[in-house]
Amino acid sequence: MKEKVEQYLQEIKSFAANTQDEIENFRLKYLSKKGIVQVMFAEMRNVAPEARKEMGQLLNSLKNEAQNKFDELKEAASGTGTEAGKKVDLTLPTDFANLGSRHPLSIVRNEIASIFSRIGFKVNEGPEIEDDWHNFTALNFAAEHPARDMQDTFFIEKNPDILLRTHTSSVQVRVMQKEKPPIRAIFPGRVFRNEAISARAHCIFHQVEGLYIDENVSFADLKQTLYYFATEFFGADTQIRLRPSYFPFTEPSAEMDVSCFICGGEGCKICKNTGWVEILGCGMVDPNVLEFCGIDPVKYTGFAFGMGIERIAMLKYQINDIRLFFENDVRFLKQFESTL
Ligand code: PHE
Repeated sequence: MKEKVEQYLQEIKSFAANTQDEIENFRLKYLSKKGIVQVMFAEMRNVAPEARKEMGQLLNSLKNEAQNKFDELKEAASGTGTEAGKKVDLTLPTDFANLGSRHPLSIVRNEIASIFSRIGFKVNEGPEIEDDWHNFTALNFAAEHPARDMQDTFFIEKNPDILLRTHTSSVQVRVMQKEKPPIRAIFPGRVFRNEAISARAHCIFHQVEGLYIDENVSFADLKQTLYYFATEFFGADTQIRLRPSYFPFTEPSAEMDVSCFICGGEGCKICKNTGWVEILGCGMVDPNVLEFCGIDPVKYTGFAFGMGIERIAMLKYQINDIRLFFENDVRFLKQFESTL
């Protein structure tokens, strides 16, 4: 019997298993109720009393060996053990999950919102599907007025006209109808124009509108606000210039250029050698518009401005094709990182 037990011990020591099945078979063979360990303990009955002590010790070590081997095999198979190359090196660098990045248009929009929030402008939004009144009539576009053709419109329904808003100025109307002055807010959003798609133009793009209505708001306030924005966004050395322009809903109206932040005004490809780049339209809110929206034009004045987010993002990141913003090619998108 002693020899038999010693032979089992040898077997256990040299046993190796590669699969769960083999490990289970090992358990059945040695450690189960009818397994070798139990059978050998049962045979103790036949051992002479003087040899029992030694035999008992031997069987205990058989039992321990079998149990240890089984535990070891199990641990190795679960991948956390120290067996045969399965060791895990906890000092290796991990693979970080790919989190993606913010869209460049979101980065620019958030930055614009953050700059204006510092001087007390809150953020409002309005619907993308509008009626003619909010998009045109209340903004002083007379019926049949050629100014309506400045913005080629996608109509959804005719009579009454329902359309995709052509500019965020429609949100001006909604906010003025709802709120009493002082009003100081920006309205970012998506706008739509029936234009041929090219590297420079798209039928879908984004604008940020700004509106400030209160007593005694002057053109000087408009100029200073826009100057503040330009220096915050493009850098402290930025110059601005206002050129007279026309919008039905502002009087007087202007377009604003900033000194080219690429060449500093020397002349380059971005500013087409002029030293200036146009970034927005603006003006004093036309008294007719205030009146249409239920605000007393004698007591209150205000200014408004509107800028294209794509245009500003293209300037900021020197992107030469507006279509890239809408294709969602990850190779393009992952180049823009921001904490905003
Ligand atoms: N809505 C004008 C546009 O889309 C921009 C603008 C906004 C001009 C506010 C003046 C005041 O071109």
